[in-house]
Order: sequence, then structure tokens, then C-alpha cells
Amino acid sequence: MNPADVHLDAQLGRLRLANPIMVASGTFGYAREMAGLLDVARLGAILPKTITLSPRAGNPPPRTIETAAGMLNSIGLDNDGVEAFIERQLPYLAGLGTVVIVSIAGKNYDEFVQLASRLDGAAGVDALELNISCPNVSGGVDFGTDPSMCEKVVSGVRRACSLPILAKLTPNVTDITAIARAAEAGGADAISLINTCLGMAVDWRRRRPILGNILGGLSGPAIKPIALRAVYQVAAAVAIPLVGVGGIATIDDVMEFLVAGATAVQIGTANFYNPTVSLQLLDALPAALAELGARCLADVVGTIGRKDEG
Ligand SMILES: Cc1cc2nc3c(=O)[nH]c(=O)nc-3n(C[C@H](O)[C@H](O)[C@H](O)COP(=O)(O)O)c2cc1C
Repeated sequence: MNPADVHLDAQLGRLRLANPIMVASGTFGYAREMAGLLDVARLGAILPKTITLSPRAGNPPPRTIETAAGMLNSIGLDNDGVEAFIERQLPYLAGLGTVVIVSIAGKNYDEFVQLASRLDGAAGVDALELNISCPNVSGGVDFGTDPSMCEKVVSGVRRACSLPILAKLTPNVTDITAIARAAEAGGADAISLINTCLGMAVDWRRRRPILGNILGGLSGPAIKPIALRAVYQVAAAVAIPLVGVGGIATIDDVMEFLVAGATAVQIGTANFYNPTVSLQLLDALPAALAELGARCLADVVGTIGRKDEG
């Protein structure tokens, strides 16, 4: 297969992407700084930082710390609220020439529904990602840890808007497939796996936690095997497409997620130390797919266990 002939478009339920490489929420800001460093129009989609109904100051500092194979963060959904987002960020994002998936988080069911109906029809919003998995805010993971609450919030958002919906799940549960099935039953178009893994860092000399919020979310290469495991398990449990997120930094990482069952991927922590990584991965993708004899993404997605056909 000639790499130039490989089709890269990815279908996430009702949402179509020109390619499967996206940038993860909270790791690309609102794209303004990054747009100076790379041609963001080439990305499959941009996910701006999660927004909430009202402005949030976030958690006390320090809010990030590097770890052996990744980082811990406890930002706490610091953002200016949905109205400021629509007024100040959305027009810019809408002009970037790629798909914009707006990440939202509500404190409760009503807030999720209000956010969805406020963003429905707002020019420049192509889809919503429900952040029901933030470990850094009180109540942030409730909808991602209880299947019935998950189904209720996804179906409520589905009724409140006509936008495609991605449900972003937390790995901090006993059985992620039960939550994924609930998201599917609620009407999600796709499921993003995973948000960060709950962790902490300790300053033993001062006998204190290092993060201001004590606990934080672990991301980066350290969590890739956990994210792969989640994608593999959920792929066997639901019929809707999956988006792999967690420790992706190389083309091998991307291919592992596709083969394990992800239709698309998001790049997070790697953006911080290599802002152009997402486009490097996009450039490397056709040759990697061609190596497996694939004509399109679907020839590779979820093919784990199938014998080498190359
Ligand atoms: C500093 C930082 C801030 C984040 N903020 C958000 C956020 O606002 N909303 C969200 O859904 N995920 C957020 N995440 C999680 C990432 O989107 C992603 O799910 C996670 O970091 C795993 O991917 P990675 O290992 O490639 O970073 C954040 C991650 C980091 C490191």
C-alpha cells in the first residue's frame, strides 16, 4: 500500500474528522499560543480546556509537578465560564479551520444540561466532550463512577442539544466497561478513554504533600498501559467508537491505540514538552498504516488478535 493512498478520515458517530489526531483538553489552552507554533488547521480536532457554567479560580498552587514518567496536575478546572468562552474564545477557535470539540463539566445534572443547551447552535461548536472524569474538583467524577448517573447525564445532554457527544471517562473505577455501557445507553456518539489517574507527590523532608490540592491527576507515558487496557476492555463492551488518550507521544503509541480499538486519539502531556508532536504523528501515520496494508483507519481499528496480514 502506498502511504499517499491511505485514507485518514475518522468517523465518531455523527462527527467526522479529517484525521484521527486531536489534542486533549487542558493541554492546548484555547489554541492561541499553540497556533503560533504549528498549523492547527491540520489537526483532526481541537479540544479546548474544559469550561464550566460559572467562572472557576481552580485549586491552590503548586498545581503541577513532574513525575518519573509523566506529570501530576491539580488545576481544578480553572476557567472563565461558558459566557466568557463564547464571547472571547469561540470566535477565534471557530476560525482555525478544524473541528472544535468543546469540553464541558457541570457540578450537577442541571449544569451539564444548561451548558449543552447554551452551546447548542453556538457558531463554531462541532461537538461536546463531557468531562465526567476530572479528579481535581469536588463532585467532578461522580458522573463517571456511577453507571446510572452517567447514563442520566449523557441522555440529558443528548436531549438538550443536537451536537455529537463524546463522554470522557475516568480510569479510577473498578469496572470501566460498566460506565462505558451506560454512556452508550445514554446516547453518546463516542467515548474518550482516559482522563488522568488519581495520584499524589510527597515532600518527605517537610512531611507535606507537594500539590496544593494534595491529590492530583497523573498523565503522560506512565499511564499509557492503563489507557490501552481501558480501550481494549471497552472496545469489547460497546459498539460506539472510542478515542484513546493517555501517554501518547510516538507513532507507535498511536498505532497501539488504533489496533487496541480506538478510532481516534488525543495527545495531552506530550504537547507541553513538544508542541508540534501532534503534527509529527499525523505526518507519520500514513506510512504506519500502510505498513499493515491498510487503506483506511477501519482496516486497523480494533484488529488486535488478528494474525499479521502484512
Ligand atoms: C495540565 C493538565 C490539565 C488538564 N485539564 C483537563 C481538562 O480541563 N479537561 C479534561 O477533560 N482533561 C484534562 N486533562 C487530562 C487530559 O486531557 C488527558 O485526558 C490526560 O492528561 C491523559 O492524556 P496524556 O497522558 O496524553 O496527558 C488535563 C491534563 C493535564 C496534564
